Amino acid sequence: MHFPSTRLRRLRRTPTLRRMVRETHLTPADLILPLFVCPGEEVFQPVVSMPGVARQSVDRLLVSAAEAHALGVPAVMLFGIPETKDAIGSNSWSDHGIVQQALRALSQEIPTLVTIADVCFCEYTDHGHCGVLDGDTVDNDTTVANLALQAVSLAAAGADIIAPSDMMDGRVGAIRDALDEAGYEEIPILSYAAKFASAFYGPFRDAADSSPSFGDRRSYQMDPANRREARREVELDVLEGADLLMVKPALPYLDVLADLRQRYDHPLVAYHVSGEWAMLRAAAANGWIDYERVLMESLLSIRRAGADLILTYGAVDAARLLAAGDGA
Ligand code: PBG
Repeated sequence: MHFPSTRLRRLRRTPTLRRMVRETHLTPADLILPLFVCPGEEVFQPVVSMPGVARQSVDRLLVSAAEAHALGVPAVMLFGIPETKDAIGSNSWSDHGIVQQALRALSQEIPTLVTIADVCFCEYTDHGHCGVLDGDTVDNDTTVANLALQAVSLAAAGADIIAPSDMMDGRVGAIRDALDEAGYEEIPILSYAAKFASAFYGPFRDAADSSPSFGDRRSYQMDPANRREARREVELDVLEGADLLMVKPALPYLDVLADLRQRYDHPLVAYHVSGEWAMLRAAAANGWIDYERVLMESLLSIRRAGADLILTYGAVDAARLLAAGDGA
């Protein structure tokens, strides 16, 4: 059957018909809001390259988290801007660390909100690399041992999910063992499994003050050219016990996401990263695109490619649009 008997436009005729045959849906429950926490009180320091995003002290962070949660966003991902940095990032596993403080406050004040703790060292080292240096390179195994310390400290402070983003080999297994040994066998691991060495992280590094002081992250993050290698990365994390799997960035890597959707039944998470989002804000500020529509289309596309959950700086905007009945 073909034209004129087949006419695909028949099912596009009215909004209700379109809604009935819609294949992919976006709800606030699919979204995770990344937040940046810094020391102090009543600090709300806007990030210039990410209009609408700020570094916030714990008291202000609670307000932002509560606002997102009230709109139906189930979880936040926390990044810390610590008081002090050193060569190995030891502040990241301090009981009094800034993320630990935020976790305690969030679990106390908003117990139904799921807190996800990013586990990495780039915000905590004075050189900005994601682990312990040996000469000019990041030493894998020493870093893995420290990641386990950081993960246990974050779980002890109340993190509901532990999310390693460092891209060291063997870290998921080491973190799983350390969590289990410390009595946190019920805490899931969300692995940044296929994380690419991407220029789209630029604005995040302003926000988190985490740019490497020399070189780049290409010796540990993935080559953007490699799709098959992403499967190998994910397979290892699955074998090591990852509960949820992430692809990052999102839009430039939808093929990787779709590929992983076919192969794995794990919940899949995509990170719509700082640069992807900042581009929307910048173009919209120039009047070149409609921010709200492009945001919703981007998020829907990420869901269509196979993501169950999306980390996005636009989570609150999207949740608000969905509540108003706009968007997807
Ligand atoms: C930490 C980390 C980064 C991001 C999330 N966790 C930066 C990096 O790898 O350099 C980027 C997130 C974003 O761009 O929004 N390693």
